[in-house]
Amino acid sequence: MTPRTPSFPSKTPHMGTTIFTVMSALATETGAVNLGQGFPDFDCDPRLLDAVNAAMREGLNQYPPMTGVAPLRDATAAKIEALYGRRYDPVREITVTAGATQAILTAILAIVHPGDEVIVLEPCYDSYVPNIELAGGVVVRVPLTPGTFRPDFDKIAAAITSKTRALLINSPHNPSGMVWTREEMLRLQDILDPTDVLLISDEVYEHMVYAPLQHWSAAQFEGLAARAFIVSSFGKTYHVTGWKIGTVAAPAPLSAEFRKVHQFNVFTVNTPMQHGLARYMADPKPYLELPAFYQRKRDLFRTGLAQTKFSLLPGEGTYFQCVDISGLAVPEKDLPEAEFCQWLTREVGVAAIPLSAFYGGGFDQKVIRFCFAKKDETLQLALQRLARL
Ligand SMILES: Cc1ncc(COP(=O)(O)O)c(C=O)c1O
Repeated sequence: MTPRTPSFPSKTPHMGTTIFTVMSALATETGAVNLGQGFPDFDCDPRLLDAVNAAMREGLNQYPPMTGVAPLRDATAAKIEALYGRRYDPVREITVTAGATQAILTAILAIVHPGDEVIVLEPCYDSYVPNIELAGGVVVRVPLTPGTFRPDFDKIAAAITSKTRALLINSPHNPSGMVWTREEMLRLQDILDPTDVLLISDEVYEHMVYAPLQHWSAAQFEGLAARAFIVSSFGKTYHVTGWKIGTVAAPAPLSAEFRKVHQFNVFTVNTPMQHGLARYMADPKPYLELPAFYQRKRDLFRTGLAQTKFSLLPGEGTYFQCVDISGLAVPEKDLPEAEFCQWLTREVGVAAIPLSAFYGGGFDQKVIRFCFAKKDETLQLALQRLARL
């Protein structure tokens, strides 16, 4: 016998390691300040840890229901109703997921048949396109307007065909920090109205929108909510990105299809975290105060960057700040964004993410993304280093 690992055709021949993993590894290797991958370098509220610990000690450690524990689905439905004025039935219309990533994949697997077209607005979060491809769907890329990253509705309308199954939107937007206005949501509603296109609305940064703007959820628009999977993430809202817990709110017929895939994908999400989160959510203050918490960090970071040769792009929401590098005084400013970010990490000691990583064609516009979900001292150290350029 000759033991041999059989070769087989890759289902994802073009898929590499995500840029976030690559840049975080480089930041660790070089000791750079990691403003690349989006996660806080500070801990969550100890009361949340206590709530999860208490649930574990109370013996809430066995399989929960497939759709998520009732207190968390109830708390999520109550929160959506309070904030966005739409009542989702926690029994039939809210599902707890292993983070937004699994929620989006599951929604796509549940609705996309081979050959179906799915529209993404580029730049977009890096899991969308591989998810569509895994489902056998055809990715249709529509660019957001370069510079402002606002949706181009003529282009969106032109991209819709009889084969379009779904459209993915993301507001507040990673990587640009752009936040859709009420008028833009209404415009989308009008465009989708005569179609059977489903909507996946990735709203993981819903609590990071800065005054005077506000978050507009698809839940607030009758015509959008009726066709939407609305995706949220506790990881972003409560500074626990490693917990990987989120929710999907969708009308009952959509949730029913979603759950068929969910039950044979992860089946359930860990029990004590769900109970801990449900108890912690009884107090709305942590998420109501989140915009002010991050707005202060955004302002600190933007004020510091304004003293450098980076040009600031708008920072309406999320914990990301994009900057244009073309005015820098160093020759490396002419490198492609990805190479510039490698250089910035190795030689300047600050990791960032190139915007080209969020485009299929690698569109290079001399813009990079920093994450400001960091302690003030981390941001100050990064700013000191960036001031050299
Ligand atoms: C736009 C967007 N969607 C989804 C996710 C994934 O969220 P989760 O960690 O809950 O899977 C992220 C994480 O960075 C994101 O930025």
